[in-house]
Amino acid sequence: MSQQSGIGHDQWKSRFGFMLAAMGSAVGLGNIWRFSYVAGESGGATFLLIYLAFVLLIGIPLLLTEFSIGKAGKMDAVGSFKKLAPNTKWHLTGIMGVIGGILILSFYSVVSGWSLFYLYQYITGSFWTEPDGGFGAAFDAWITNPIAPLFWQALFLIVTIVIVRRGIGAGIEKANNVLMPALALLMIFMAGYGLTLDGASEGLAFLFSPDWSKFGDPNVYLMALGQAFFSLSIGICGMLTYSSYLKDKDKLPAATVGVGLLDTLFAVIAGIMVFTAVFSFGVEPQSGPPLVFIILPSIFESMPAGGVIGIIFFVLLTMAALSSALSLLELPVAYIHRTLGFTRKAATVIAGSIIFVLGIAASLGFGIWSHIQVNGNNILDIMDNITANVILPLGGLLMAIFVGWYLTREKAVQFSEIETPILQVIWLAIIRFIAPIVLLIIMITSLLGM
Ligand code: TRP
Repeated sequence: MSQQSGIGHDQWKSRFGFMLAAMGSAVGLGNIWRFSYVAGESGGATFLLIYLAFVLLIGIPLLLTEFSIGKAGKMDAVGSFKKLAPNTKWHLTGIMGVIGGILILSFYSVVSGWSLFYLYQYITGSFWTEPDGGFGAAFDAWITNPIAPLFWQALFLIVTIVIVRRGIGAGIEKANNVLMPALALLMIFMAGYGLTLDGASEGLAFLFSPDWSKFGDPNVYLMALGQAFFSLSIGICGMLTYSSYLKDKDKLPAATVGVGLLDTLFAVIAGIMVFTAVFSFGVEPQSGPPLVFIILPSIFESMPAGGVIGIIFFVLLTMAALSSALSLLELPVAYIHRTLGFTRKAATVIAGSIIFVLGIAASLGFGIWSHIQVNGNNILDIMDNITANVILPLGGLLMAIFVGWYLTREKAVQFSEIETPILQVIWLAIIRFIAPIVLLIIMITSLLGM
């Protein structure tokens, strides 16, 4: 069955497998590492509320839009557009997607490498007690080291490559069937544990009672939008690529809502887990990207059996990162495999190597290349900002216009597989008017503010 057809497409074995893989793509470092620090910096509950509104109003409808293009096109990010809109420039959306995917995985694999290294430190017991100088100094020494992080980043990418090389059903689907249920169990355990801590209520208040004065800050909207796109994996055709491997009989709308809600639930549970801990130990929630690498280890250290909790947490973080990295790698692999005539296995190694090389820059940006900065942002921050706050919303906007305006209304509805007439009308109104307008306003405001 792993025999490829002319366009190089194998298929998900089941719709459930597809759903798990799409959920695996969505749930990742974005829900735990990125969500915690962005929410922490952008005011907690205010951010959460705007984020939830964006997920429901724009994110889930756009996820369906992306799935529709892939399922109807049945090809990679670029090929699907070429097939549905021959002799137009629409396929550039797919090219931008492939580039975006390569960029995201470049820095994503750096942070995933940190997570793998932390896991190793917990397994060997090194981080069970505070290292000399504290966890902050240990983290700094670690990320500024020019060599060691590259080793862990490479190791993480190798695992990702080994799985993606095996293909959709035998590689990605099989891995997610194990990763996702395990992830769900670990996460619920961790959040439940967080709720038992003293001071949990303060963390919950930070996360759930909004500060109304912060609703006027345009930056919070941009951050919430970028986070919604990043977390749902939309805007660069990664979900499009996954849906292209669906069988005709597997319907889209239920899967879309399932993925959207589960991803959001995971973000909220991760928020509970992180902020209950942060507040019960009196730490500042605005600690930025190192939040889960500095704060959580100090918290684990002061807990009974904290070392075991540390192992569980970093297993969870690494598995979540891996299931997302699979989708980020599959995106360029599908494209390279079809267009450049490489076998799937070769395409995986080629894409993985390009990503590793770019990722080296993101990693060194913390140490020997830390002088390379734009507005106080290092290379990793720049890659993250450009992708999450520019490429993803732009890709989402283009796909909304493609399905909403370029395709006929009948085709759009048919591809979306929405059956209820009222839902068809709502979805069309969102992708034709609401999403483009909101996206344009936010993107323009942020450009003017820059
Ligand atoms: N959604 C993942 C996370 O939250 C990251 C990710 C995977 C992604 N695939 C993507 C982001 C495609 C944007 C586009 O960690």
